[in-house]
Order: sequence, then C-alpha cells, then structure tokens
Amino acid sequence: MAQAPVFAPAGATENSPAIHCRESNSILPRVPAGRLNALRHYRFAIELAGSLPEISRLMTRRYQRPGRSAGTSLKHSPHASPALADSKRTCGMFPLPSSWLPGYEINGKDPHLRILVAITGASGSLYAQRLLDNLDPQQHEIHVVLSNYAQAVIAEELPGGLRLPAGVKTHGLKSMNVPFASGSNPFDAMVVIPCSMGTLGRIAHGLSDDVLLRAADVMLKERKKLILVPRETPLNLVHVKNFELLMLAGAMLIPANPSFYTRPTTIEQVVDTVVARVLDHIGIPQNLVQRWQEEKE
Ligand SMILES: Cc1cc2nc3c(=O)[nH]c(=O)nc-3n(C[C@H](O)[C@H](O)[C@H](O)COP(=O)(O)O)c2cc1C
Repeated sequence: MAQAPVFAPAGATENSPAIHCRESNSILPRVPAGRLNALRHYRFAIELAGSLPEISRLMTRRYQRPGRSAGTSLKHSPHASPALADSKRTCGMFPLPSSWLPGYEINGKDPHLRILVAITGASGSLYAQRLLDNLDPQQHEIHVVLSNYAQAVIAEELPGGLRLPAGVKTHGLKSMNVPFASGSNPFDAMVVIPCSMGTLGRIAHGLSDDVLLRAADVMLKERKKLILVPRETPLNLVHVKNFELLMLAGAMLIPANPSFYTRPTTIEQVVDTVVARVLDHIGIPQNLVQRWQEEKE
C-alpha cells in the first residue's frame, strides 16, 4: 500500500499510535499523543472536509505557528477555519473516546465501540435483525433494549423471533442501572431501529420515562451519535417537526428507505441497503452493499 504521510510526526515515539484512513489510503505515522487528542476534537472537521488531506492542512497550519505547543493549541482553536467554525455551530466541539475515529484503524486495528441498539414497535424488525447480524460482539460492546411494543411487532414480522448473536447484552426497559443511562458513561453510538413515531416524538420532546428514552436523551446531551431509523409513511406535520427538532439537537435520521440501484434480489438484500448506511454512520467498516462508483474512463 502506498503510504502517504500527511504531516510530519515530530514528537512521536515508538509507542505513538499509527492511524490509517481507509478511504484516502493515507497513514498518519506514529501520531504523538497530543496530536491524537487533537484529531479526536477534529472529527467533525473530518466529516465536513470529507478527507484526511483537508484535516491535515488545517492541523499543519496550527502546528506550524512558531512558539505554539502541540495539542493544546489545536484543542482550543476551533475557530481556525470556516470549516471548523461550521462544525462548532452545527455539532459542537467535544473530545471523543480514543476508540472513535470512524473509518480509521488505530495501530492496525478496527476501533472497539460501545453501541446500544434500541428496537421499537415500528414495522421493520428485520432492519434490527440485519444490523445485529452485522455487528461483531467480539469486536464491539453491543447492548440491546426493546420498547414495550417491539416484541409485538417482532412476533408479526420475524417468524423465528429476534436472533441475538452470542455476546450481545440485553436490558429491560425499567432499570436505569445501566451504563448508558448516565452521561458519565455514555456509549459511542445508539441506533433506534426501526424507530416508531411514538418513540421518535418522545425523544424529540425530552421524555425520559424508561431507559431507552433516557439513553437517547443522554446521547443527545453528550453530543454522541444518535441514529434514528424511522419507517413511517406517509408523514404528518408532527412527524416532520419532530424530525426537525431531532436534527437540530444533533440526531442523525436515516429513514428506512431502501435503494435499488444495486439490484437486490432478496428481502435481506433490500434491507441491507439501509443497514449499510447505518453501519457507515456508526463508523463500522462494511461490504454489505456494493458502493456506487464513477465510471472508469
Ligand atoms: C405490526 C405493527 C406495525 C407497526 N408499525 C408501525 C410503524 O411502522 N411506525 C409506527 O410509528 N408505529 C407502528 N406501529 C404502532 C406502534 O407499535 C405503536 O404506536 C406503539 O405505541 C409504539 O410504541 P413504542 O414507540 O414504545 O415502540 C405498529 C404496530 C404494529 C402492531
């Protein structure tokens, strides 16, 4: 693989982690701890800029200022560029766990993520099943919670019931005695799949009556990834206003609207066109669905 260092790793030691960006196929060789911290703060710049070279440009500019100490100057300079100012306005700047640099390998390994999968009483239990089928509990910490109505819909839609891969931890709705119920121990990502309009409305309006709703509330307040997968159609204005509220609060909405340009031939393949997008947004590598490619010249 062609290694394309994107900035000089001054200050790195043998123990500094190496980060590999799969998409741009570039490597940050032996990034010193200070710079790794800075990278975490700049995750949204990565998303906005869409490429590692861009973040490298932003970072290099800060580092090249004489007399600045690496790491701290970056941490406290979110207004360094319009892209960063934007990221602050829309998402807020906040530190991320060392595990979460989506699409990146740290020291040659995929990151270990803590993920909560919440299943509600909307149609589309198969979306939840296929997501669980594609989350590796050996690689990630996977927790599952079901709303009161989820079981009823699962019984209608999944003849064999929900299959939980070994290692997945399940929780009842009523106990708040779980890590993700508190901002002091939030997860990296929570996915509500499928998401009923009832649950979506309750999250949008800050109701935290059970652990599923509380967890979603925590994800929003801690600025962590909350992904909602509604299926409802058609929509009324209440739904749309709740979508708006949630997006303003930082949630990601990925409606269960399958795509067909990859010509899926089974229900699972249709469902996977949505699940693939969810995995992408959690930050988990996947090859479920062939990606769109530009025609080669
Ligand atoms: C078979 C079945 C399918 C349903 N599909 C949907 C749906 O797609 N969207 C939705 O918002 N509600 C749907 N409902 C209704 C919800 O289950 C109901 O509003 C419930 O109160 C949601 O509760 P929850 O948000 O706690 O899961 C469905 C119910 C059943 C029995």
